[in-house]
Amino acid sequence: MTDSCQAALLSEGLPAATISGSGRLVFSTSQDFDRAWDLGVFYLKVPTCLDIEGARHFGQGLTSADSPYRQTPKYGELEGFIALENNQQTKLALRRHRWDQHYPSEVAQFGRQLDDIGVAIMGEVLRQSGIPESLWGRASGGYSLGEGTAFLNFVHYDTRNPDLGLRPHTDYGFVTILDATAPGLQIKIAGDFMDVPVLPGHLVINFGEALHFVTAYSERTVGAVVHRVLSQQSIDPLRHGIVYFANPDLEGMLWQFDAKGEVKGNSSVQGLFALLEKNLTE
Ligand SMILES: [Fe+2]
Repeated sequence: MTDSCQAALLSEGLPAATISGSGRLVFSTSQDFDRAWDLGVFYLKVPTCLDIEGARHFGQGLTSADSPYRQTPKYGELEGFIALENNQQTKLALRRHRWDQHYPSEVAQFGRQLDDIGVAIMGEVLRQSGIPESLWGRASGGYSLGEGTAFLNFVHYDTRNPDLGLRPHTDYGFVTILDATAPGLQIKIAGDFMDVPVLPGHLVINFGEALHFVTAYSERTVGAVVHRVLSQQSIDPLRHGIVYFANPDLEGMLWQFDAKGEVKGNSSVQGLFALLEKNLTE
């Protein structure tokens, strides 16, 4: 897509979708759907059953120094309570199989509701891709079958660090679901960063690199959007975020299918992510 096309796509603001009663992702017009798929980012109306306030309250509690959740142990580099290792971000990050152990039951339940949203979005991407439904499980590294890897992270931006909120990047996984309470998120469109305003009652959804990889030979390829978070200042309202990452099984494989169901390529997930990391560092 040309730069001017991309810029035009955003002139009306980001499109907004809903989850229908039957669990499908729907846009009110086909133009909105096209814009969302071309940009790789859109708003999603918060489903009424989702207790977003309760989850926000949990996240906000992590800022107090005596929160017991700040003692959550680290598991590798990606999980646990992690302070200021990535720009201004301080976060509690956990993969799905640890939610019941470390999160309150209602927060673990909230995560499972985000699983359902992630599977609905993933299903719509795969449906539009033309990849036969019998292959969706393999194409998504298990994610569309309720497996794969999911992270539920509670993030805040620590303004004692005079850094960017989060440097420009693409997400590596399939789909990111974000609830943010304050401005700062920007996406790169046609070479320029543009604000993604907080839209009350809505989550922000963006596509990641693994989704691009698995749809690359399909009838509807989607791309990962470059985004960043502006440096948060101490005079700003403290920026909290709930971030859910829908990922393939990190120890598994990703397969590229075309709409006839023929294999066009594959990669281990670790291999793909290592390649992305190398490109990012270079
Ligand atoms: Fe991101």
